[in-house]
Amino acid sequence: MPTVVDRGLEGVVVGTTQLSNVEGAIGRLSYRGYDIDDLAPNATFEEIVHLLLYGTLPNRHQLEMLKRELGSCRALPEPLLAAMQNVPKTAWPMEVLRTIVSGLGLFSPVNAQGEHVSDVHTALELIAKVPTVVAAWDRIRRGLEPVAPRSDLSQAGNFLYMRTGKVPHAVEEDALDTYFVLLADHSYNASTFAARVAASTRADMYASVTAAMATLQGDLHGGAATAAFRTLTEVKTPENAEPYVREILERGKRIMGMGHREYKVRDPRAKHLETMAKELAEHVGGSDRRYQTAHAIEQASRKVLQEKKPGNAIYANVDFYTAPVLADLGIPGDEFTCLFACGRIAGWTGHILEQLADNRLIRPQATYEGPTAGPYVSIEQRSSNGQRG
Ligand code: ACO
Repeated sequence: MPTVVDRGLEGVVVGTTQLSNVEGAIGRLSYRGYDIDDLAPNATFEEIVHLLLYGTLPNRHQLEMLKRELGSCRALPEPLLAAMQNVPKTAWPMEVLRTIVSGLGLFSPVNAQGEHVSDVHTALELIAKVPTVVAAWDRIRRGLEPVAPRSDLSQAGNFLYMRTGKVPHAVEEDALDTYFVLLADHSYNASTFAARVAASTRADMYASVTAAMATLQGDLHGGAATAAFRTLTEVKTPENAEPYVREILERGKRIMGMGHREYKVRDPRAKHLETMAKELAEHVGGSDRRYQTAHAIEQASRKVLQEKKPGNAIYANVDFYTAPVLADLGIPGDEFTCLFACGRIAGWTGHILEQLADNRLIRPQATYEGPTAGPYVSIEQRSSNGQRG
C-alpha cells in the first residue's frame, strides 16, 4: 500500500489535550469546556491562566494567590535588561522577545541534577515576565528608560502601564485583557505544537517556550496581525478596499488575517475583536476610519474570493481585527506578534505541563525521495557539481 504523506499534518491527530477544543466546522472554541463566547465578556486573563494551568476556574482565594505570584515575578534580571540596552534599536521586537525569553533560563535556579524545574511556578514566572520584556524593549528602542512593573495591576493593566508610565483607562485595560483571554490557547496550533515537540524531548520550559516563540513569528501564524496592520495602513479608506483586494488576488497573493486551517466558518474570536475594535474607536475618539476600513477589507475579500473561487469560503481569523484593536491601544504594528505571545504564553506553558505529565517523544517519519543508496565517492572521482562522476 502506498504511504500517505500528510503535508502540513492537515487533519492528522497527533495527540490529545484537555486544554482547549477547536470545533472548526461550527466555529466554536472552548477552554476546558467553557465557551470562549462566555469567557471573553466575563472572565479575566488571570482566571484563564488558572483554568489552563490548574484545570479549574479559581475561587477568590486562589485568584488572589495567583495574582500575587504573577505580580511578584514580573521584574527581569538586571543583566538581561542591560543586554537589551545594547541591542540595535532596529531589531524586530519579536526577535528581541525570543532571545530574552531564552536568556531567562540562564537566571533560573537548577536542581541537584543541574536541570531547570519545569512546573507551574516556572509557567507563572514566564507568563509574568513575557510582557515585561515586550514593554521594556518598546521603551528602550524609543530611547526611554524601562518602567518597572507594578505588582498591584492586572497583566493587561501592568503591560500598558509599563509602556507609558501611566495607569491605563479601564476601557483600554479591559480591551487588552479580553484580547489576552481570546488568544490564550488554541489547541495544537503550530507554535503550541512546537512547544510540545521540544518538551517531549525533555527540554526545559524555557527552551520549549523559545521554540514556540520562534514558530509564532512567521506571517502564516502570529505574524499575520502585523501584516494585516500593514494592509490597513496601505488601504487607508473603506473606498480603497475592493480595488486593493482585487489587485492582491490578481497577483496571486493572500489577504493577511483572512482564512484559517481549522475554521470553515468565521473564527469565533473575530466577532469579539470586531466589537472591541468598534468600542475602542469610539473611546479613542476622532475617526473610526481604521475600523471601517478593516470592515470594508473583510467584506471585499469575501466578495472577491467568492467570485474567484466559488465555494471556497474564507473568513476573517483572529489576527484580522487584532490589527485595529492593538493599533487603537497605541501599540506599534511591529509589536503585534509579541502581544499575541503575551496571551498565548498561558496556553504554551499549559500544554508543556500537559505534555510532561504523560510524555512520549514526538518523532514522526518522512518518505525519503532522494537518490538510492550507493557507495561513498572519493573527492577525486566527483564531477564538478559534486555528483558521482
Ligand atoms: N487570501 C487569499 N486566498 C487564501 C487565503 C487568504 N488569506 N487563505 C487561503 N486562501 C486560499 C488559497 O490560495 C488556497 O486556494 P487554492 O486551493 O486555489 O490554492 C485555498 O484558499 C486554501 O489555502 P491553504 O493555504 O491550502 O489553506 P491552509 O489551511 O493552509 O491556510 C492559512 C491557512 C495559512 C492561515 C491561510 O488561510 C493564509 O495564508 N492566511 C493568511 C495568513 C493568516 O492570516 N495567518 C493567520 C492564521 S490564524 C493564526 O495563526 C493565529
